[in-house]
Amino acid sequence: MTNEPSEPPSVAALAVTDTATKATEQAIDPWNVSAGTDEQGNAKEFDYAAISKQWNTKLIDDELLARFTKVTGKEPHRWLKRGLFFSHRDFNEILDCYERGETFMLYTGRGPSSGSMHIGHTIPFEFTKWLQDVFDVPLVIMLTDDEKFLFKNDLKIEDVRQFARENAKDIIAVGFDPKKTFIYMDTEYIGGHFYQNALEFARAVTFNQVRGAFGFDLSTNIGRIFFPALQCVAAYPTSYPHIFGDDPAGNRSKKSSKIRCLIPCAIDQDPYFRLVRDNSHKMKPPIKKAALIHSKFLTGLYGPGGKMSSSDPNSAIFMSDTAKQIEKKINKHAFSGGQETIELHKELGGNPDVDVAYQYLSYFDDDDAKLDELAQQYRKGDLGTGALKKICVAKLQEYVKGYQDRRKEVTDDVLEAYMTPRELKWEGNKNPVKP
Ligand code: TYM
Ligand code: TRP
Repeated sequence: MTNEPSEPPSVAALAVTDTATKATEQAIDPWNVSAGTDEQGNAKEFDYAAISKQWNTKLIDDELLARFTKVTGKEPHRWLKRGLFFSHRDFNEILDCYERGETFMLYTGRGPSSGSMHIGHTIPFEFTKWLQDVFDVPLVIMLTDDEKFLFKNDLKIEDVRQFARENAKDIIAVGFDPKKTFIYMDTEYIGGHFYQNALEFARAVTFNQVRGAFGFDLSTNIGRIFFPALQCVAAYPTSYPHIFGDDPAGNRSKKSSKIRCLIPCAIDQDPYFRLVRDNSHKMKPPIKKAALIHSKFLTGLYGPGGKMSSSDPNSAIFMSDTAKQIEKKINKHAFSGGQETIELHKELGGNPDVDVAYQYLSYFDDDDAKLDELAQQYRKGDLGTGALKKICVAKLQEYVKGYQDRRKEVTDDVLEAYMTPRELKWEGNKNPVKP
């Protein structure tokens, strides 16, 4: 078990701007992320090793991946091998659990701030589906329409509820198994055991702790101050009696409190889950610490350190984009690691590490040999930016189209089926190692 301080400092709270230059520090919280700027004011790259160190997470290493393969008999996902998922808390204990044949739950979520999700948002969901397939475990997906209402003052309740439904259809199109997946929106589902957990959690956590984790101040609206209790207790299995059971009197049960939880998300969501881990032993019944597996951010089109923003259509590829839009955005806006002119490129070669088209290919193309070859040719200058972008466009068009085709099949009835509180059915590890 990692030894964490109970009130971790927030990067947002610590971020300092050096007024003599245009330099700013990297700052990451659940609502805003910035890699910071250098002295000239240019965007820097995210420093993921630094954030892992600062937040006291563990980096995913070869040893952990080898153990994953030993326990599951499966190859790690390419996003693990290629370091997109780079950090964790207690993932090794989830592997122990699986090895012994114990059930654990998966939990992830989406804040419905707009009707369409970008390719970055699909990363944790695609990865979660893979985890669900590998481990054969139940999954809950939280849509925080309440969070977006509280944090975006221009949105009405009706808006965020509508976005939640739209986003749920996008998420279903990832292909989650309906027998093992429960999707809910907060403004509909929260009550019962979930709310009892939220109250208990809220009484155990002070404003000081929440402020430390999120950088709130005295003019923050009180909804925002309470909201973390909801995103947090969603990680507790006792919040879902229809999935994990309750005790004979209808109260939160000891049995379900023993089920562990694994949360896949990008690193920006981690501040919530430090609170979850620090306070789970105060719950009644006490809950085991949730485990996490963190991804980096898929770079925005403008390049390293750039984010994908729902409010800037040219910063990202959206899952609703047409083939033409994808082509235009990549060609026009994707930051290139190539040289200014073809002659210079042939002479000096390009840099695939900062090239957005290459980055996207490395996340969405399975073929290791092909990627190595492309990187080599690009470095040598034999492959130009235009040609590389063309390959990337084709790959993204295929990815987005697959999505859109599956999305068309998601009718209101299908949506209803996933969003109905009900029992789930899973088998877990069929060949556990008996101690
Ligand atoms: P939201 O809607 O901001 O983001 C949804 C998920 O996508 C991740 N993400 C990204 N991953 C890779 N590259 C990117 N460019 C990128 N942008 C966003 C986020 O980290 C997140 O995993 N409050 C949450 C909703 C939530 C949640 C959860 C998320 C509730 N419970 C549990 C994760 C786990 C939110 O607004 O996410
Ligand atoms: N989704 C928020 C926005 O668009 C900010 C955000 C949350 C974000 N998580 C992220 C941006 C991860 C990049 C990466 O404003």
